[in-house]
Amino acid sequence: MTNNIYFIANWKMYGSTTSLNSLNKLINLSRLKKYKRARIIYFPPFTLIKDFVTKFKKTKISVGAQNCHQIENYGSFTGSISAKMLKDLGCNYVILGHSENRMSGETDFDINKKILSAINKNLKIIFCIGETIKEKKNKLTHYVLKKQINNGLKNVKNFKNIFIAYEPVWSIGTGIIPTKKELENNVSKIKKLLAKKTKLKLQILYGGSVNSKNLSNLRNISGINGFLVGSASQNTKNFIDIIKKTIN
Ligand code: PGA
Repeated sequence: MTNNIYFIANWKMYGSTTSLNSLNKLINLSRLKKYKRARIIYFPPFTLIKDFVTKFKKTKISVGAQNCHQIENYGSFTGSISAKMLKDLGCNYVILGHSENRMSGETDFDINKKILSAINKNLKIIFCIGETIKEKKNKLTHYVLKKQINNGLKNVKNFKNIFIAYEPVWSIGTGIIPTKKELENNVSKIKKLLAKKTKLKLQILYGGSVNSKNLSNLRNISGINGFLVGSASQNTKNFIDIIKKTIN
């Protein structure tokens, strides 16, 4: 991997106000010259965003949210948070299209509206795509990636804030990762699909059971610019290990 390397910490529905104490070591690491290519971005639950923004204030570490509503400003949507509100909190990023949200009913159409709303509010978007085990077994992976990319990015004109996270659903939280060949093949397909839409070279991240033990298999995959880390990011020591093993 060359240039910037992205390390995304997706905390999902975990973490409390005391969880921030463990982050000092990571802040120290982010200041070392050796790790200046590391772009570290935390996605805590909504409840902790403000604390994280404050904690990372004088650092290069960014903060994002794990989802947002389709309406970009305000509205009568009980329990929802808009892109405008995230921006107001100090977020620079949002994850959209995560499979855990797709599984609870979020459609490509919903995700597309969310992406457009986040673009309008100048948030950077980690757009998650990936096939289920059933789709993989039925050899539908490329078909699914094409559908998710074309539907999710419909009417997008400005791609500069879009990152793609390729996350095979069967890999998330299972400890199983794709083979090098499989991953490179799917990433190359994703790049071809994107090339039909934009001349910009988007950053492609891999997500799904990334941990410090399997990193030696993942760090040499060509065509990816970083990792979206779920459970292993909730332990700061593990997350630091992932960064150290990627950049050594
Ligand atoms: P995992 O989660 O690293 O725990 O597999 C990744 C994700 O859901 O983004």
